Amino acid sequence: MNTLLVATAEEPEVWAGLLAAALPGHRILTTPPPRGTPVAYVAVGKPPPGLIASLTGLEVVLSVNAGIEPLLAPGMVADGIPIVRMVDPGLTEGMVEWVLAQVLAWHRNLSVYEANQADGLWTPIPERLARERTVTVLGAGALGAAVAGALIAVGFKVRIWSRTFRDIPGAVAFAGVGQLGEAASGADVVVCLLPLTPATEGILNAGLFERMAPGAFVINAGRGGHLIDDELIAALDGGQLSGAALDVFRQEPPPSDHPFWTHPRVRVSPHVAAQTHARTAAAVLAETVQRWERGEPLENLVDRLRGY
Ligand code: NDP
Ligand code: OXD
Repeated sequence: MNTLLVATAEEPEVWAGLLAAALPGHRILTTPPPRGTPVAYVAVGKPPPGLIASLTGLEVVLSVNAGIEPLLAPGMVADGIPIVRMVDPGLTEGMVEWVLAQVLAWHRNLSVYEANQADGLWTPIPERLARERTVTVLGAGALGAAVAGALIAVGFKVRIWSRTFRDIPGAVAFAGVGQLGEAASGADVVVCLLPLTPATEGILNAGLFERMAPGAFVINAGRGGHLIDDELIAALDGGQLSGAALDVFRQEPPPSDHPFWTHPRVRVSPHVAAQTHARTAAAVLAETVQRWERGEPLENLVDRLRGY
């Protein structure tokens, strides 16, 4: 009987119950067994250092997060053990909702009217249509592709940018670092849905902001390391950007004196853009285990060299 250890920070008992139902004939644990007892699978988010390395007989690491950078830390997961990242309908739906909410709130000036209301002001702004706006989505993977599709459905002009060319009907595709400038050129909104790797660290910077349309909006739901914080503040204060919606931060939560907390044109959310819902994602983990045990190729495998 294969053992699966649930080592998630949140709701381990909920995951365990769902996995036990989905994987009859498996032993599902929420605490590590005595050293030397085989554990074929571990379900983790950001595990404590040493936990995964302490397991015997590990076959597959099942990430409950889409972003797996903690699992690539040196010594975290031994070479040769496959890591499967989370691609889950619930996570994708959540991200689509969150990004649409941010884009539409900016596009239809909701924050401006809210501020005006507080001052008792009745000040209509000439509104634009979605089809008059260009949104560039950085990252065209499980999340970026779904977000791009939803923006297209609302009517926005959508560009996607990825490492390799991706075909999303209705979107204009760009690929590789050489086409980043073109992808961002004149964009009204840039949405970051990239994994954090050495190649994408600091990608939301002054150079990118300067390429965007004057008064543009930046959305970061990737990782805090994608954004150069000071350069965002300078672009907001200088008027190049009109606002930013940030869900992820270099330090979470940001330090109490960080300017993001009080900046009038920065909207902060506490890393909730897309939460993993055990009630949808447990089935995804169970499917991975079943594929592995049937000897079929695993989907959504992390490529350690690419870093995602
Ligand atoms: P995927 O791996 O499915 O997609 C990643 C995309 O980024 C791919 O299109 C990939 O290109 C592209 N990419 C990677 N590196 C580069 C590069 N150097 N240059 C250009 N494009 C690049 O990831 P997901 O869509 O599932 O998730 C994306 C990220 O979203 C996660 O890594 C995580 O950081 C973040 N996230 C945030 C959440 C939140 O609540 N804020 C929740 C979940 C995820 P290609 O297609 O060519 O491979
Ligand atoms: C994820 C996240 O990567 O929650 O899944 O950010």
